[in-house]
Amino acid sequence: CGIVGYTGPREAYPVILKGLKRLEYRGYDSSGVALVNSELKVYKKKGKVSELEESVVGKDMHAHVGIGHTRWATHGEPSDRNAHPHQSAGGSFAMIHNGIIENYASIKQELVNKGYQFKSDTDTEVLLNFIEDIKQNNNCTLEQALRIALKRVVGAYCVLLVDKDDPETIIAARKGSPLVIGIGKGEHFLASDASPIVEYTKEVVYVNDYEIAIVRPDELILKNLGNEKQTPFIQKLDMELAAIEKGGYDHFMLKEIYDQPQSILDCLRGRLNPAAGTITMNGVDNHLNALINAQRIVMVACGTSWHAGLLAEYWIEDLCRIPVEVEYASEFRYRNPVINRGDVIVAISQSGETADTLVALENAKEKGAFIFGVVNAVGSSIARLSNAGAYTHAGPEIGVASTKAFTGQLAVLVMMALKIAYAKGTIDEKKYQHLLTELHDVPEKVSQILKDTSNIQAIAEKYKDATDFLYLGRGYNFPVALEGALKLKEISYIHAEGYPAAEMKHGPIALVDDKLPVVFVATKDKYYEKIVSNVQEIKARKGKVIAVATEGDEIIPGMADDVMFVPDADETMAPLLSVIPLQLLSYYIGIAKGLDVDKPRNLAKSVTVE
Ligand code: G6P
Repeated sequence: CGIVGYTGPREAYPVILKGLKRLEYRGYDSSGVALVNSELKVYKKKGKVSELEESVVGKDMHAHVGIGHTRWATHGEPSDRNAHPHQSAGGSFAMIHNGIIENYASIKQELVNKGYQFKSDTDTEVLLNFIEDIKQNNNCTLEQALRIALKRVVGAYCVLLVDKDDPETIIAARKGSPLVIGIGKGEHFLASDASPIVEYTKEVVYVNDYEIAIVRPDELILKNLGNEKQTPFIQKLDMELAAIEKGGYDHFMLKEIYDQPQSILDCLRGRLNPAAGTITMNGVDNHLNALINAQRIVMVACGTSWHAGLLAEYWIEDLCRIPVEVEYASEFRYRNPVINRGDVIVAISQSGETADTLVALENAKEKGAFIFGVVNAVGSSIARLSNAGAYTHAGPEIGVASTKAFTGQLAVLVMMALKIAYAKGTIDEKKYQHLLTELHDVPEKVSQILKDTSNIQAIAEKYKDATDFLYLGRGYNFPVALEGALKLKEISYIHAEGYPAAEMKHGPIALVDDKLPVVFVATKDKYYEKIVSNVQEIKARKGKVIAVATEGDEIIPGMADDVMFVPDADETMAPLLSVIPLQLLSYYIGIAKGLDVDKPRNLAKSVTVE
């Protein structure tokens, strides 16, 4: 979910509305605002933020304080009723919430026994009435009641509260779900990330877990749950407004695909220096011994970031000869994993806020693991929790399906692998130099792929009505096949499976008929001949083959029904290129089907609930 708050001299509603649109990638099944003037007004609506906007036309939206929410449903289906803000039973205050209150059922039962009635199915309304109940019973302030309530709460939250009896103040608290406060002149902005804030101020405070913020136009007070004042740590935002706008593209996803030559370059800049034969990464340099001597490296991530972890396994095992495991954060956190001294955990996350990844890391850190973060969002929770790390520098990624963040992750991870391998002596000088040059050439080669995409658009048009797709690859191109399939599912709602090309014989081949499109990621590498045989196996069963092939290759294009070419590259770097046509294919199929590619149904970009 995305949350926004404003208190200051401006009209609050337009600030909040714009902020919600910026945060919509975090969830968009319903939205709402609460405004405090002389009274408390709450407006909410199922659907996207634009539907809320339409529904309030002509209403009195005048206020200088307000909070807004765009939801990704957890408890209770998307509906007007379950949309946030929720109002307390007594009606004097309203709250928005990002997260999950895990023990809501027992608290709700207590409240029901006391006669409370609930208007929604949400855990949020339970917390809100719990706060109200405490306030009444203890005759205390809202802030005190919130503090008492939060001590009982199990789960994750970022909450904002407004109170009609205290009309200038927003009270906020966080644990697990992010909160940034922007400091203006006589005004404050609150949001889940900095994107709603950046056009007003560059001075921000990232609120920590277990902190409560009392925010007024001229005042920001931070306290811990023990009511002790904390000193706000003010940071300067390193983000420009242009970076979070579409810049002439039809969709953020397309813009972000086209950003990649630049975003990969930004990631390599100042780090990769082929002429000097060096890679400079402070996070790695400062902990080189821990990394070289790692007994095992465990990649922990979700979604697309997990695919980057899988590629890192191939790179690190091949180049550094260190055993690597790749873990889904949600499984890792619950299955009592064995973590030994000498293990290094590499956390990979675009947002740096994914709840499963965050908690998995907290658990591992408690057990003494060394955490290395590969994160895109600067200052995010995972970045702050990590012992060391390297930012991907892809810039804000807004399209829900990850594209440039993924290639940024790959660039960081391959640099790490090269650096560790070189320091460890598991790569010879010649190969090391060669790979530095190959990596250096990647942004230019990505530009070449993006120069003309008409062929990919035609392929998208041709296959848009297929109901299933299979994506196959071997070696470094296997994780790319998984990522290609995930992109298609996310954007076009077509069922797609990624598989190792050879493993396909043990099951998925049964799906092949003359209607099934099979995407082969079949660039020139050491598996090339093997994958040629796999293509033949599919053709023999009349499957439709769409191949990602190396420019100049004649064999695969001769066999495939359709081809998307990528420039020749060393196989180590091939994934950074072969994923690009797959991103474009899913984008154009989504467009051909008339879907909202930036906000696919049911998804959210930053999943801050487990
Ligand atoms: C969500 C997004 C994916 C992303 C995953 C992990 O599912 O829709 O695009 O890969 O979360 O997110 P993270 O921010 O941790 O990389």
